[in-house]
Amino acid sequence: LDTRLPHPGPRVPILGDVFGADRDRPTQHEMALAAELGPIFERKLLDTHLVLVAGGELAGQCNDEDRWARALAGPTLKFRGIVGAGLFTAKTSDPLWGQARRILDPGFAQSALRLYHAAMQSVADDLIAHWDGRERVDVHEAMTNATLEVIARAGFSRNLGLFTDGGADPQVQTMLTALDQVLSWASESSNDLPVVGQVRGFLQQRAFAANLAQTRAYIDAIVADRVSGAEVGGDDLLGLMLDTVDPETGAKLPLDNVRDQVLTFLVAGHETTAALLEVTLWYLAARPDLAQRVVDEGRSRGFDYSGVAGMRTTRNVLNESLRLWPPVPGMFRVARTDQQLGGYDIPAGHAVFVLTLAAQRDAQVWGPTADRFDPDRWDAKALRRYPDRYFTPFGTGPRSCIGRAFAMQESALLISKICDAFVLDHVDEVGDEPVMRERGTLRPAPFSVAIAPRPGAS
Ligand code: HEM
Repeated sequence: LDTRLPHPGPRVPILGDVFGADRDRPTQHEMALAAELGPIFERKLLDTHLVLVAGGELAGQCNDEDRWARALAGPTLKFRGIVGAGLFTAKTSDPLWGQARRILDPGFAQSALRLYHAAMQSVADDLIAHWDGRERVDVHEAMTNATLEVIARAGFSRNLGLFTDGGADPQVQTMLTALDQVLSWASESSNDLPVVGQVRGFLQQRAFAANLAQTRAYIDAIVADRVSGAEVGGDDLLGLMLDTVDPETGAKLPLDNVRDQVLTFLVAGHETTAALLEVTLWYLAARPDLAQRVVDEGRSRGFDYSGVAGMRTTRNVLNESLRLWPPVPGMFRVARTDQQLGGYDIPAGHAVFVLTLAAQRDAQVWGPTADRFDPDRWDAKALRRYPDRYFTPFGTGPRSCIGRAFAMQESALLISKICDAFVLDHVDEVGDEPVMRERGTLRPAPFSVAIAPRPGAS
């Protein structure tokens, strides 16, 4: 690896750049470091050399699939022990990954989203009924519940009861605890020094092992009921997953893999989408003019599948949230062959961390207002100059997010319905940007808003 790469100083012998890390806000700290060190730099910890790519143009180069590939590293690698060969954690070379992707792609296509619309709509209605009559609501809690309910209802036709009885079912409680513990474990111990992280990770893992085993059993039972016919399948993702045959091999997915996929969707789909919803509501509460435009669009288009699919203003708002605060703030890319990046040599097989968070705010790509929340930039003709390689909140290439259209449809529906029903206002004085916390994902620190019924709600 190129020894000329800039690094945060001072470097401690043997240990390396121990002063160059922030355990609680790692990627936000790295973004600040990039302002100092430039679009590419390294952080050495013991014998690990982590190269960070923070410039828009260089990040774009790493998205070139001919030269770079997705790397399983960091927290993603740790998830492998939890969700096995689920899509997110399978190696691209694993035949089961290709098979699962071919089987699951139709489950996330527009035709499938149309089927899930009623489930998504029911969650939006429950959320609004739950908020009705209140003056102040906990956005974090509500978005966690909404995104979990959407996956459970659209994914496997289960109402978790989070809006009605607080998810009182003990199996649901155990599952929620396990999901939360897994997320903390995957991120927290990754940010520690190697030995400290391993010890902490081991202890955390022991603490959630029983909850995870019960969660697997809960999902196994749902799958088994469906296969045996004890439960008649609805129009859901599980049904599509069980019925679809891989067009290439003619095989169906093994049932333990189906379980791992369901668990993957619960983990990969809820925290990320909740983060997007929260960031968006944070900005909308601060910008009544923008919220009104979202309302006008919803009222003119309506909230059925096609109405929501074509909501341009609302989608511009969501895109702008994803640009400034990508819920997955970075991704690992490995060099297929020897590469030059910003004048530095990166040898074949070395992985770099592309800091999407910083790259999507690079003024050289996005202009002088790059740090400003401006959804209208997505209408600008100039934006068409920016190919997908500069805007990658859902990753890139064959391993990019399978749930992209699902998340966008769900988010557009929830945001437009919430704005249609309520006027939102921040309770506390807020700055220009939300305060973000990190747990593998980048998500606003829990916040509440004041709400009042919006006149003319549908
Ligand atoms: C992959 C982001 C919602 C399921 C990814 C990746 C990103 C991402 C960046 C690629 C990670 C990498 O290259 O290491 C997001 C964001 C979401 C979201 C920002 C919401 C705003 C969802 C939803 C689901 C989902 C709703 C499922 C219901 C997956 C799966 C993969 C993935 C299965 C792995 C795909 C593969 O490797 O074949 N997501 N995601 N995501 N996401 Fe999402």
